[in-house]
Amino acid sequence: MDWGLRNRMARMIKPASGHTVMLAVDHGYFMGPTRQLEKPRETITPLLPYCDALALTRGVLRASVDPSVDVPMVLRVSGGASVLKDDLSHEAITTTMEEALRLNVAAVALSVFVGSPHEHESLVNLSKLVDEGERYGMPVLAITAVGKELEKRDARYLSLACRISAELGAHMVKTYYCDGFEKVVESCPVPIVVAGGPRLDTDRDALELVHGAIERGATGVDMGRNIWQSEHPVAKIRAVRSIVHDRATVQEALALFEEGKRTEGKRPPAA
Ligand code: 5RP
Repeated sequence: MDWGLRNRMARMIKPASGHTVMLAVDHGYFMGPTRQLEKPRETITPLLPYCDALALTRGVLRASVDPSVDVPMVLRVSGGASVLKDDLSHEAITTTMEEALRLNVAAVALSVFVGSPHEHESLVNLSKLVDEGERYGMPVLAITAVGKELEKRDARYLSLACRISAELGAHMVKTYYCDGFEKVVESCPVPIVVAGGPRLDTDRDALELVHGAIERGATGVDMGRNIWQSEHPVAKIRAVRSIVHDRATVQEALALFEEGKRTEGKRPPAA
């Protein structure tokens, strides 16, 4: 790995802990105005001091993030499908490497759809993006998307998707937490970050997911809805950070969350 690529990785995965809290706000690229992300700037701004990287599209980056912020950006560069269609896997590379460099981002991200109708195209897209990333020192995050077929989220499937992504050269992989998650980590030779998925029933459930993932070898989280759909998003991300970086227990993180709820204001409900 060349210096520039390693430097970009180190900006996202904090060398002090070897872990990262990425905040995902890229949902609009296929879901449109997701609840509590209708006005991206309002959602993102209070959370920026607590994330190690921000995952988003170029549109939201330009429109909703102040260029003076000192947070590494992970730029989503795949798209071309929407929730209105059954097949979410019909994606292409929608943003060039030149644009990623112009935006001075720390990594580019694309979805790979193993087992979906457009599996082949998404894996070839990944390989080509890695070739370009290696040329310019830009890490590539492969997102093992499962589209609408959520039942695929078991260790066997996720191990397959993560390993294929790593074999094709991804520098990092994003996947989902599952029973037997350690098997997914063991068979993937590059760092894994976990998505949160749709908002879980309780805050404890979300913190248990984070704790389980870190205990079983995840490098961090790339989490969205379970943070910014919370009534107390700042308290929530701080609780997540305590697990990821300080190895807090779920109980300790919950106590921090409760304390944060008391001291930080509640966000207004979505219109
Ligand atoms: C959308 C994504 C999201 O960034 C990912 O799902 C993480 O967000 P959440 O924790 O809300 O699931 O990749 O395709």
